[in-house]
Amino acid sequence: PKDQFINEIISQMTLEEKLGQLNLPSSGDFTTGQTKSSNIGKNIEAGKVGGLFNIKGVDRIRDVQKVAVENSRLGIPLIFGMDIIHGYETAFPIPLGLAASWDVLAYEKVARVSAQEGTADGINWTFSPMVDISRDPRWGRISEGGGEDTYLVSQMAKYMVKGYQGDDLAAKNTMLACVKHFALYGAPTGGRDYNHVDMSRWTMFNTYFPPYKAAVDAGVASVMMSFNDVDGIPATANKWLIDDVLRKQWGFDGFVVTDYTGINEMVEHGMGDLKQVSALALNAGVDMDMVGEGFLTTIEKSLQEGKVTMKQIDDAVRRILEAKYKLGLFEDPYRYTDSKRAKAEVFSKENVAESRRIASETFVLLKNENQVLPLKPNSKIALVGPMADAADNMPGTWSVAARFEASVSVKMGLKDKNVVYAHGSNLVDDKVLFDNSTIFGKKPRWDDRSADELIKEAVEATKNVDVIVAAVGESSEMSGESSSMVNLDIPLAQKRLLQAMYDTGKPVVIVLFTGRAKTLMEENEKADAILNVWFGGTETGNAVTDVLYGKVNPSGKLPVTFPRSVGQIPIYYSHFNTGRPLSDEKSDGCTFEKFRSNYLDECNTPLYEFGFGLSYTTFDISNLKLDKTTINQGGSVKVSVQVKNTGNYDGTEVVQLYTRDLIGSISRPVKELKGFQKIFLKKGESKTVEFNLTTEDLKFYNAEMKFVAEPGEFEVFVGNSSNAKLKSKFELK
Ligand code: IFM
Repeated sequence: PKDQFINEIISQMTLEEKLGQLNLPSSGDFTTGQTKSSNIGKNIEAGKVGGLFNIKGVDRIRDVQKVAVENSRLGIPLIFGMDIIHGYETAFPIPLGLAASWDVLAYEKVARVSAQEGTADGINWTFSPMVDISRDPRWGRISEGGGEDTYLVSQMAKYMVKGYQGDDLAAKNTMLACVKHFALYGAPTGGRDYNHVDMSRWTMFNTYFPPYKAAVDAGVASVMMSFNDVDGIPATANKWLIDDVLRKQWGFDGFVVTDYTGINEMVEHGMGDLKQVSALALNAGVDMDMVGEGFLTTIEKSLQEGKVTMKQIDDAVRRILEAKYKLGLFEDPYRYTDSKRAKAEVFSKENVAESRRIASETFVLLKNENQVLPLKPNSKIALVGPMADAADNMPGTWSVAARFEASVSVKMGLKDKNVVYAHGSNLVDDKVLFDNSTIFGKKPRWDDRSADELIKEAVEATKNVDVIVAAVGESSEMSGESSSMVNLDIPLAQKRLLQAMYDTGKPVVIVLFTGRAKTLMEENEKADAILNVWFGGTETGNAVTDVLYGKVNPSGKLPVTFPRSVGQIPIYYSHFNTGRPLSDEKSDGCTFEKFRSNYLDECNTPLYEFGFGLSYTTFDISNLKLDKTTINQGGSVKVSVQVKNTGNYDGTEVVQLYTRDLIGSISRPVKELKGFQKIFLKKGESKTVEFNLTTEDLKFYNAEMKFVAEPGEFEVFVGNSSNAKLKSKFELK
C-alpha cells in the first residue's frame, strides 16, 4: 500500500510540485549568520516546499503545516527539521563530551530525550548524529562529533540513531535522524573548516567511513552530504560516494540532503554555474536541496536539455514522500503538533535530572596531584575565571533550542558551598576578536577593568581560602562551525590569571571548558588538578559541583588525543609503526633518535592519550586470559581480565580492549580499539570482565580493497587507556 499510495501522488504531481518536494528552505528564525530563504509562505501554498527547518514552536509549526495541507493543491504535509545535536531545550553535553562518557546507553538516552522533546514541540527530523572522525583539534567542529576513533564513533552512531528513531518512526515521540556529514568532513587540510580533503581509499574505508556505515546499518532515515570535496569532487556531486558506496554497497534506502547551500557552493568549487551544479547533484543522487533553491530554479531547464531525467526526479520525490509516509504524516499531518505534549514533555524535571547525571559522566579528570580532589565538604574556595559565571555558555555550540536562561553556571552550582568569587580575567585580551568569534552572541561577561585590576581582585579573593577553583578555557562559540584555530593554548589573558593563582601557593584546581583537545603543557605542570568538563549542557554547574565534591566519582575518558603542541597534529593513538619507529626503550617518545621517525624538538607521545581519564579511586587490571591461542575464520576468542578497585572510593572504570594485527597485506595500526565495558566497583571490589573478539572484529579493507580478516598473529591489549600494556597473543588460521 505504501508504494501504491506514493505512486498515486507522484502521478498527480506537476514538475513544479515535484521539484517543490526536493526544496528545503530555512525559515531563518535563528541568527545563524546565514542567508534566509525567500518567499516561504507563497512557495508552500504553491506546493514548492518539501520541508522547513529552523522554525521553533509547536503552534507556529501547526500553522505552517496547515498552509501546506489546506492551501496547497495536493495537500502534501511538510517535514520539520532542526539541528537537535545534543538535546533540545534540555541541553546535554556537546557530542565530544558525550563521547567521553564511553556509555552507549547515555548516547542512546540523549538522542531519546532529544526526540521526545523535539517531537513534542513539532520537529520530526534532526540533523544528527554527526559522526565525522576528526584527528585535528584545530578544526572547530571536532566538538560536534565523537572524536578520533572509528570504533567509538561507530558505537555512538548506532546508539544515537536508535535513540532518535526508536523501533517505529510513526510513533509520536520518534524522529528521522540524519547522519552527517558524508563524507570525511572532519579531515580538512590544516584543520581549516570547509577545506579540501585528500585521503587514500584505505583510510576512507578503514577509518573514516565505518561510523557513517554504522548509522546506515542502524537504519538511519537520511544522510547529509558534506561541504568538502572527496577525490576532488565535492561530496554533493560525488556519484561514487552517494550512488556506489552509500546506496549500492551499503544498501541505504533513505533520502540524501545537501548541507546548507551545498549545491550553490559548488559554483565556488569550480564545478560550473548553478544550473550545471544542480544537475550534477541530482545525477549524483542528491534528493533534497537545503536552502539554495538550485533544484527549484534550474532543474526544469536541465530536463529540457536532457541533462537529467524525469526518473531521477521521481526517484528523489519518492524518497522524500517515503520519509513522510514513515513518519505517519499522510495519516495525520498534525501528529507532532500537540501543544499539551509540548508543555508536559519539554524541559521536564526528569530530562533536566538526566542531563545532570549524564554531564557528570562526561567529565575527564586529567590530573589530581595529592588527591586535592574531591574537595572537603567544608573547604573554603576561591572561584575565579571567565567561565565561572558564564551560564549561557554552558549548553555549548549548536544548541539552537536550549534554554540558555535556565542554564546553571559553575558559580550557581556552588552557591551553597563556602565560596568567594572573583572574575579574575576576561576570556581573551582582544575584545574585538572575541566579539567577532561569537556567532550567537553567547559569551562570558566582558569586564572593562584592566587585566591587572582583575587579577589583583582575584588574588585578594584567595587570601583566606583552602583551595582555588579556576574555571577557564574556551567560550562555547570558540569551537563549532567556522571556529578553526591554530593556537590551542588556553588564551594568554587566562594564563596570566592562572600564574597569579599558582603564585599564591594554594592548590589550584582547573575546571576546563573546551570543545576540542587543548595544549595544556603548562597547566599540567603547574596546576594541582585539571577537570575537563567540555560543555556539559543545561546542568553543567550542578554536575561540576557533584564531581568536585565527590558525590560523583569522575569516569570520563578522552575520545581524542591531547597533544603536547600543535605541531604534533594530526596525532592519534591508532597510528602506523613506520619502517623506522623509535626503539622499544625509547618508546616514551621523548628521547631523540637520529634517522628514526621522531621530532628534533618535541616528543612523539601526546600529553594525554586517547582513552585516558583518572578517577578518585584506583583500579588494578590484571590476569589477562585468552580462552584459545588459535582461531579459525568465523571463530572467536574470549578475552578476560580481573579488575579490582584498589583505592578509597567506589568508582567506575572503562575497561578497554585493543588489538594489533601484526602482519597484513597493508600496514596496520599499532593499536585499534575493539571493545570497551564500563563497570562500577565498590571500594575493594573485584570483577572479571569478559570480551568476545570475533573474526568480524579483525576485518579490514586489504590491498585489494576486500573486507577480510587476514590469517596471522594478533596482539590483544587490555587496560584503562590506549596505553594499555597488559598484552597477549593469538593466531588466526
Ligand atoms: O546541520 C547543519 C550542518 O551541520 C551545518 N550547516 C547547516 C546545517 C543545517 O543547520
